[in-house]
Amino acid sequence: MGGSDGAGNRCVGLDQVSHWFPGTDLLFSRLDATLQTGTITGLCGPSGCGKSTLLKLIAGWERPRRGAVARPGVTTVAWVFQNPHGVARRPAVDHVAFPLLAQGMGRRRADAVARGLMGRFELQPVADRLFSDLSGGEAQRLLLARALACDPDLLLVDEPTAQLDRRSSAAVNRSLRQLASQGAIVVVATHDVETQAVCDSIIDLAAAARRELPATVGTAAPGGRASLAPAARRSPLGASAGLAVTRGVWP
Ligand SMILES: Nc1ncnc2c1ncn2[C@@H]1O[C@H](COP(=O)(O)OP(=O)(O)OP(=O)(O)O)[C@@H](O)[C@H]1O
Ligand SMILES: [Mg+2]
Repeated sequence: MGGSDGAGNRCVGLDQVSHWFPGTDLLFSRLDATLQTGTITGLCGPSGCGKSTLLKLIAGWERPRRGAVARPGVTTVAWVFQNPHGVARRPAVDHVAFPLLAQGMGRRRADAVARGLMGRFELQPVADRLFSDLSGGEAQRLLLARALACDPDLLLVDEPTAQLDRRSSAAVNRSLRQLASQGAIVVVATHDVETQAVCDSIIDLAAAARRELPATVGTAAPGGRASLAPAARRSPLGASAGLAVTRGVWP
């Protein structure tokens, strides 16, 4: 089941979630999982299997073709994209300071806190550099630092270590763990075995593509491993969409 952790706490529930696009095969089918605060869930599988798509469904940016995604208690969602976007002509540090200013922090303090957060990712040397002058790996670490500044309920991270060396990857993995320990629900799409090692549970979309079983159900609680499997398309669900729930409808 998905939608609630049964105790009224903040969580993300995936309830029989299936998705495909026009022109693609069924990407995944009848996925059930409850992603709880304080946990990191890894989305794994080969390129094109639907990891970024599942992140979008979890964020509510895309509706699942079938099933429902619920986010009870989730108010702040932060994304770190596969291809990081920033404001080209703004200094790097402003990207991290901005959410702090938005939270009401004064300019000087926000700048100091932002530089401290950047330090966790070894970004002090580039703090005053324009975003357009950052390398891809620096830009992605910067947006992770910004995600820390947002202190989100739900953090969605797409391939955070793909462009990084081992030392930077280790810093990113530590930060994901830290964000989870602060009470965030962290979901990370990754090919990196070291990132997978810091996850509490894994949704293996490769297994979904291989198996011809009915649904396999996983619960993303610490220490567990979830996988899922494709299943025959089922009859349409009723249409219903709300702030906290994204329910699939037929086009
Ligand atoms: N809006 C869309 N319309 C049609 N097809 C799409 C759309 N978005 C994604 N796809 C297709 O769905 C499949 C899954 O895409 P997705 O980006 O989720 O894969 P991925 O697992 O994140 O891959 P990668 O590891 O390369 O980032 C791909 O075949 C992709 O081309
Ligand atoms: Mg992707």
